[in-house]
Amino acid sequence: MGTGVVVLMTDHNSGEGSRVPLEKAVEVLTGAPPLSIDARHFMRGGSGRVSFGGSGFWMEVASEGLVVSPEVLIVYEIPPAERGRLVAFQRQLSPEGPVSFDVDADAWCNATDKRRTVDCFRRAGIAQMETIALCRPDLGTALDAFERLGQDVWARPTVGAGGADVFHLTTRTHLRAALGHYAASEQDWLLSRDARNITKDGRRHQFRVVVLHDHVLRVCEHVQADPDAPCNESRGAVSTVIPTEDLPPQYRRLAVAATRSLGLPFGGVDLATENGGVVFEVNVHPTLDVPAGMETVAIPFVQAPLRVMKQGAGVVNA
Ligand SMILES: Nc1ncnc2c1ncn2[C@@H]1O[C@H](COP(=O)(O)OP(=O)(O)O)[C@@H](O)[C@H]1O
Ligand SMILES: [Mg+2]
Repeated sequence: MGTGVVVLMTDHNSGEGSRVPLEKAVEVLTGAPPLSIDARHFMRGGSGRVSFGGSGFWMEVASEGLVVSPEVLIVYEIPPAERGRLVAFQRQLSPEGPVSFDVDADAWCNATDKRRTVDCFRRAGIAQMETIALCRPDLGTALDAFERLGQDVWARPTVGAGGADVFHLTTRTHLRAALGHYAASEQDWLLSRDARNITKDGRRHQFRVVVLHDHVLRVCEHVQADPDAPCNESRGAVSTVIPTEDLPPQYRRLAVAATRSLGLPFGGVDLATENGGVVFEVNVHPTLDVPAGMETVAIPFVQAPLRVMKQGAGVVNA
């Protein structure tokens, strides 16, 4: 049906809303919107097929009447829990395939599986709160970790998003409740010392820093009125965009180094600056449905693969 097109692959089941700013960014940069494909077709069990024909890399979804050989492939908005199902597709993206960017399955996994994140940070010397990974522990093992970490800890699922199933625990009763919650929902989890990222007036405080290579694209300051709730917007934190240079350089460098330590060229870093600064996580696909998300993040993200595309292909006009 077409060659020379830009394909945007996202999970159309996700309600997060990054697809629209990415579509607009492609249109601004190339003069035409991308061909949007539902990533679920190319996840394990999907009907999408990949082949290498005479003229290159082809993607086909017979049920949709879709056959395309993308020149540029952009992948985004793949929810953390679904990423494992896209790995086989990602491994087929060879240098002979479309120009793509930030599709390394191992790097995604380093960011998505927080046990691996903690190990990567430790190896690279990225400041983080002391953490103990728990799979499905018995009460004694969990209590031991709770006590070793000072009985003021945060529990997070190993694979999570948006602050869901994240708890601040300061008593054995809290710990028992969290243990029961993760067992019932069949999740592995982590315990970390509290970062004490609290303002003088008792609110939680942190930053979301979006990084592309060595550059900081966007910084938001997050304030959470409930000191026991995660500092995620979806959990009631108030997010304010601030000029990137207002974040002191050592924390900008920390965000860049944290992203790089996972093997990612791009990411949305959650970090606190109190007590020297620590990183909580790096998001593979930070949401772009945010104020000025198209201009500040989607455009440079889309520009990255367009820039490496062959000169004279006639696609880039910005
Ligand atoms: N050790 C900690 N100290 C203070 N706050 C924490 C700690 N661990 C997690 N949190 C809070 O919980 C939020 C959610 O954890 P995070 O790792 O960002 O997972 P996700 O956002 O994917 O759910 C963090 O951004 C932070 O606000
Ligand atoms: Mg987070």
